[in-house]
Amino acid sequence: MTDLLIDDIGTLVTNDPSLGEGPLGLVRDGALLIGDGAVRWAGPQTATPQAAADERVDAAGRTVVPGFVDSHSHLVFAGDRTAEFAARMSGRPYTAGGIRTTVEATRAASSETLSRNMRRLVAEALRSGTTTIECKSGYGLTVAHERRSLEVAREHTDEVTFMGAHVVAPEYAERPDDYVDLVCTAMLDACAPHAKWIDVFCERGAFDGDQTRTILAAGARRGLLPRVHANQLGPGPGVQIAVELDAASADHATHLSDDDVEALAASSTVATLLPAAEFSTRAAYPDARRLLDAGVTVALAADCNPGSSYTTNMPFCIALAVREMGMTPDEAVWSATMGGARALRRTDVGHLGVGARADAVLLDAPSHAHLSYRPGVPLVSAVWRGGEAAVA
Ligand code: NIG
Ligand code: FE
Repeated sequence: MTDLLIDDIGTLVTNDPSLGEGPLGLVRDGALLIGDGAVRWAGPQTATPQAAADERVDAAGRTVVPGFVDSHSHLVFAGDRTAEFAARMSGRPYTAGGIRTTVEATRAASSETLSRNMRRLVAEALRSGTTTIECKSGYGLTVAHERRSLEVAREHTDEVTFMGAHVVAPEYAERPDDYVDLVCTAMLDACAPHAKWIDVFCERGAFDGDQTRTILAAGARRGLLPRVHANQLGPGPGVQIAVELDAASADHATHLSDDDVEALAASSTVATLLPAAEFSTRAAYPDARRLLDAGVTVALAADCNPGSSYTTNMPFCIALAVREMGMTPDEAVWSATMGGARALRRTDVGHLGVGARADAVLLDAPSHAHLSYRPGVPLVSAVWRGGEAAVA
């Protein structure tokens, strides 16, 4: 692969404090040298290594940030829940029950339809700067349908999560413990080879603390790493379980006690906040400021799914996090890049330090703060993924 030099970068966010100012490793008037799909060099323009690159892009004083790392999404689904959204906007509350509507449509869809839908959403995410995206199953809820969802997800991303424990399958409504048994045995046997992570929706209306522990332990025995949908709709044991099991992430983390915040701060579990879900369900936002002030590592993700958050747009989430959750523009950009990488326990993405995968986004803006300062404006003007132009 040929070398690429991006120069005349007005603001370069590297997320590598050894390369520039503050936690964002900010370089003014910078340049970025890419080769063989990775970052070869990043720094001030005046210090650019002399070896000529095969290709040069003039950023003309604009901004380059690392590709966004969206560590939470549910992209394998079919069907439409516009009516549920409209009803919610006229006052009906969001509940976990809506998931079953999507389960019915997903089971009835062909694998080709599911794959085409996911491809469309991954491409949509890429156009707004997302270069790494995690995807969960959880709209199949039978052994065969969950395995199929994971096979579809794997066609489009390496970050695949088994979530047979999204809600109790409708066939098991009267005997939820039998469903938990199924998840822990035949379903995991079929699904574990196709996934890296296991996730459980630990919530009233979904799975309680004991069930969550049982399912995550069964996943761990098959080599799956835990993450948890925790404390989204109300207080509960999810965050404590995530910390106890050293989960990579506790996601949503909206309703937290002081003990929950303290436990997160003392752990290596990331709190992944999903402000587009609160936006789309007209719910109270999590308090990112409280978490950050306590020393918790915070990630931002879009939670794209047809029920609670039908968006793939990370810049929108950054703007919400700043306006509604008390994050500074710098913190929100870090959380949407490096924070997401931490939530996926990845060291090769989320930053533009030397050796990182060359995932970079050129913004039509003089600084990264414009991601929150100019909400809703499509600032992404080019995207490179692994050094290749993915959006131009
Ligand atoms: O992350 N909370 C559980 N799962 C999704 C919503 C799924 C749905 O409503 O279809 C979420 O918000
Ligand atoms: Fe989710």
